[in-house]
Amino acid sequence: MTDKNQCTLGIETSCDETAVAIYDSRAGLLAHEVYSQIALHAPYGGVVPELASRDHIRKTLPLVRSLLEKSKLALTDITGIAYTAGPGLVGALLVGAAIGRSLAFALKIPAIAVHHMEGHLLAPMLEAEPPTFPFLALLVSGGHTQLVQVDGVGRYTVLGESLDDAAGEAFDKTAKMLGLPYPGGPALAKLAQQGNPARFVFPRPMTDRPGLDFSFSGLKTFALTTLKEHADDPQARADIAVAFEIAVAETLAIKCRRAMEQTGLQRLVIAGGVGANQRLRQRLTQLAEQLKAQVYYPRPEFCTDNAAMIAYAGCQRLLAGQHEAAAFHARARWPMSELPAV
Ligand code: KG4
Ligand code: ZN
Repeated sequence: MTDKNQCTLGIETSCDETAVAIYDSRAGLLAHEVYSQIALHAPYGGVVPELASRDHIRKTLPLVRSLLEKSKLALTDITGIAYTAGPGLVGALLVGAAIGRSLAFALKIPAIAVHHMEGHLLAPMLEAEPPTFPFLALLVSGGHTQLVQVDGVGRYTVLGESLDDAAGEAFDKTAKMLGLPYPGGPALAKLAQQGNPARFVFPRPMTDRPGLDFSFSGLKTFALTTLKEHADDPQARADIAVAFEIAVAETLAIKCRRAMEQTGLQRLVIAGGVGANQRLRQRLTQLAEQLKAQVYYPRPEFCTDNAAMIAYAGCQRLLAGQHEAAAFHARARWPMSELPAV
């Protein structure tokens, strides 16, 4: 570790959000901006990768400019650049990587490739009372559902993960089936508020056997069968939405409990887009109370994709002296176990 100040510009372009942020190792988060491409992809019912890449090209540099204005900093105040290098849509990733790398080259400062899921996992560190290591992290995003033992930055042991659809993916697919617009997760959560939680009981997949892996794809089939059985009932959609949401929250809570008992860890971190779900947050808060454990959430805007978490993660690695050579790469798939420890 150096005691030099690190003022890190973070760039996130892995999917359908263009985001930039500045994290300073002494002063903390100075500013962040997110531009969502929801309106661009909505007519197609999901993310169109090529449209995403082109929009990142249009938005990234103007966002950096407005970020600098907002934080009253000049480009020359930046001492390092962190860009998301994967996992994600490879064309979209390459936009952030190319811009991040080029800026670093022009400014003669180091750049670091950041793992998107490491960003999510460290997002609670941006809050006023961050967790201390070690902790258990439940990562629930659109592409990943993982339980990870976190012993430090880059010291990750994956204890369990989804064998098929990730939790967010299950939300999105079930929402689509219920006729809800993209992005499905928040829309399904909204519909669930009008549902009767006592009407349908959905299964809690893979909780009747030992282990910490997940399987959510059966829930969407269960939802479809239930929907067909009640095709003429206008209330059924909301009742299915709430039953689905409860089943996901309950399944995740059962696995979190198991993982905490198995590892003896007393701190639980929830991260990733599904972590913004209120029902899940309430359920895991209740679990933590029962276990006399602590639970930590990023604020909802830092659960979904953002650059503050990328700037933070990159800053920790730059402080440890890590950085990349001028060549850059982006990876659609990237196991977290390949990350070097700090
Ligand atoms: O972490 P994230 O923003 O992007 C990925 O890295 O994948 O997660 C996006 C996922 C989507 O599947 C979205 O539907 C889900 O998070 N999501 C939610 C909520 N907000 C976002 N799912 C349930 N309830 C929410 N409130
Ligand atoms: Zn994400």
